[in-house]
Amino acid sequence: MHPDTPAPRRFLPSGPLRGRIRVPGDKSISHRALMFGALAVGRSRIAGLLEGEDVLATAAALRLMGATIARDGEDWIVDGVGVGGFLQPQGALEMGNSGTSTRLLMGLVASQAITAVFTGDASLSRRPMNRAIEPLAQMGARFEPSPGGTLPLLLEGIEPAVPITYRLPVASAQVKSAVLLAGLNTPGITTVIEPVPTRDHTERMLAGFGAELTVEDRGGERIIRITGQPELTPQTIEVPGDPSSAAFFAVAASIVPGSDLVIENVGLNPTRAGIFTVLRQMGASIEELDAREVGGEPVADLRVRHALLTGVEVDPALAPSMIDEFPVLFVAAALARGRTVTRGLDELRVKESDRLAAMATALSAVGARIEEREDGLVIDGADGEPLGGGGPIATHLDHRIAMSMAVAGLVSRNGVEVDDTRPIATSFPTFEALLEGASEKPSPLQGRGLGEGEWREVFNGPLPPTPSPEGEGDL
Ligand code: S3P
Repeated sequence: MHPDTPAPRRFLPSGPLRGRIRVPGDKSISHRALMFGALAVGRSRIAGLLEGEDVLATAAALRLMGATIARDGEDWIVDGVGVGGFLQPQGALEMGNSGTSTRLLMGLVASQAITAVFTGDASLSRRPMNRAIEPLAQMGARFEPSPGGTLPLLLEGIEPAVPITYRLPVASAQVKSAVLLAGLNTPGITTVIEPVPTRDHTERMLAGFGAELTVEDRGGERIIRITGQPELTPQTIEVPGDPSSAAFFAVAASIVPGSDLVIENVGLNPTRAGIFTVLRQMGASIEELDAREVGGEPVADLRVRHALLTGVEVDPALAPSMIDEFPVLFVAAALARGRTVTRGLDELRVKESDRLAAMATALSAVGARIEEREDGLVIDGADGEPLGGGGPIATHLDHRIAMSMAVAGLVSRNGVEVDDTRPIATSFPTFEALLEGASEKPSPLQGRGLGEGEWREVFNGPLPPTPSPEGEGDL
């Protein structure tokens, strides 16, 4: 999908980020809107769909199995085939970089009498699929994965599949969703027990499409039951902006002196918004404006102003609600005053890259003080002073490493070079354009590499007072 050669880029020190930006649609919700639209009987319409490579991989796979998916002006329309109505795909399902496409579609294929081959890029082909294979095999599907339970993988679905009760051994919305989606075309009740709650877009949206789905809270565990073989009713869906994409700008505006940025239309589902909680604990100035509901999800505009952040111990219980935001949180911590400690993050080692190792190496290379532990990073912040900069940083085909290190470049003396910006298009194709639009030109002094005191003079004169977390007034 990418052009053939890497696209390296040096992200230079930036002046303040100002104005208003709008981040693209939520990736998780976009995947699900396409999948559930493809299973409804009739035409769904989706506004605000993320047109990133991961979501387009889902669309291409659904087309191969009989759904009609097309752009219609600003919207997308999906003509569904009905639950159980997928056709035998005539080619491999090419999943690119997308773990979500792979695991959720494995669930959908598992309970239909079709056979599919899943392939992916070098990053996805290293990621563990056994976590989805195990419950789906219990339901009767047959798998031929590559060694170590990886892609390429052949999946032979079964109809009728056997309903199961499955307790998630890892906190994973993808595995939860895979089982629930297999349950959609399975007679009887399929149950998933979630000891630790994860993002709940599947549950919310399936209920919106008319599936019979209940969620019971039992002593902190969530018990989710889905009754198989409903007829799903087509929907009109508005996809809110992606909090995972907004997080890069929330951190950028927090750490670049003088910034005052409004990020519009940010999804704030509590199972996703942990990054904003932690940034506020660090002293960030993030104000929610015009709180409202979009597509059944809480949404607000976020006004973010520069503040000197302070290191914190991040509560591991918050990890599932900010699992994709740790790379950029590490950047915030590298600029903060004092020490930030994170733990309980073993899952970061099996994302698009090993994000603990990748970020420890990347941030150390640009002058941050990092200790890598088995399940987290310990970061001693630079007290608001810019990092030295450097690179090229190895991004390992991981969009979030590339964007996080771009943000680090904004508050560096010499800029930060990332080895390849192409993966950014998997989740946030407009990232670089938005960054350029929001960033004011730095002072000419900045280019020559500033001494510590000088840096503050250029941006602020004397050190500004730290704004209160509640914000200081109206726009
Ligand atoms: C996602 C779930 C998360 C997240 C991924 C998207 C989803 O993965 O990291 O980017 O849409 O369900 P896990 O469920 O594997 O933690």
